[in-house]
Amino acid sequence: MKIELDENKVYINNGSFKREIHPFWLRERVDGEEFLDKGTQQRLFDPTTLNSKISINTANINDKFLEIDFNDGVKSKLDIDKLALEFSNEDTVIRTIPKIKWNSTLENIKNFEYQDGFFDSKEMYNLLVSFYKYGFVVIKNIPTEDNFIVKFANSIGSVRRTNFGEYFDVKSKPDPNDLAYTSLELSPHTDNPYRNPVPCIQLLHCIVSEVTGGLSTLVDGFTVTEDLKKENPDFYKILSEVKVRFKFIDKDVVLEDWSELIKLDDNKNFKQVRFSPRLDYVPILDKEKLDLYYKARKKLSEMYNSEKYRIEFKLAPKDLMMMDNYRLLHGRTSYEVKEGNRFLQGCYIDYDSTEGKLRHLKRKFNI
Ligand SMILES: [Fe+2]
Repeated sequence: MKIELDENKVYINNGSFKREIHPFWLRERVDGEEFLDKGTQQRLFDPTTLNSKISINTANINDKFLEIDFNDGVKSKLDIDKLALEFSNEDTVIRTIPKIKWNSTLENIKNFEYQDGFFDSKEMYNLLVSFYKYGFVVIKNIPTEDNFIVKFANSIGSVRRTNFGEYFDVKSKPDPNDLAYTSLELSPHTDNPYRNPVPCIQLLHCIVSEVTGGLSTLVDGFTVTEDLKKENPDFYKILSEVKVRFKFIDKDVVLEDWSELIKLDDNKNFKQVRFSPRLDYVPILDKEKLDLYYKARKKLSEMYNSEKYRIEFKLAPKDLMMMDNYRLLHGRTSYEVKEGNRFLQGCYIDYDSTEGKLRHLKRKFNI
């Protein structure tokens, strides 16, 4: 990618195409002291109030800088490397971490070990990269006192509070408002599909585990989606087109949101799965369409519940699992309350936390 000049015009040339850069685009980026706050990198002027007929009087390339005199009297010296970072419209940090598909054969995934100074360390960077590759990560040796999970969440970003509170205790209790608070098996599901927006990431911290059952289960919704797309394109299509209603009701709140079970992004690539067959309401559609929809949902459920895709493992006290609630499904095997206690704490954070931390650590370590 090169910057080239032709008379008073500035061009970007990537070898296969050359196109002119709009003078206004460059004028918005002037970064002298009177135009840009050095600390925050925020503009000290409002570009929407500038004369829209901005043009370039003279332009020169001087080593790594593009020197421009604009027709409104402003002179600027723009760092070419900094400009080049903007030529990609894609997120160049998160999107460039490839998602690794996995199923029940997944093994030897690295666990991380909590220690002093962890949150601003290179190991934290490695942890976040691993999280984006696999959709989950397990960190060992996390203190269990004083709801440390909240401190953990707030040291990456900010905890996402919900009507379940800042954090929630997962243990069987009388008169539960969700099956999570029983000792029953929980089949693979995503959390809170009825929220807008759905919490992005769930943290689960094991405090006590005295039972033989109660294993954590995970399924990669990305792998299942990609396999379904290949094996049953009609099912994939209808599940990514029809929005269903998800609903949660208790005595204080009625939460509702509509979404496809498989949500695609603007480029028709995987974005998010929602699956919680206790909470979804399929809309009335033509009978033939519903016929296909129900077949497709059944197939998807069979895949999510199949041993082929599921990994199972036991969280030990002090283990904290961080999982992508847009990509993975999670569940647990049943356990016997008579055997002893099983106590986990959970909370949510959103992608701004992990993304912000990852970009910060990448900058800090110059990676
Ligand atoms: Fe859950």
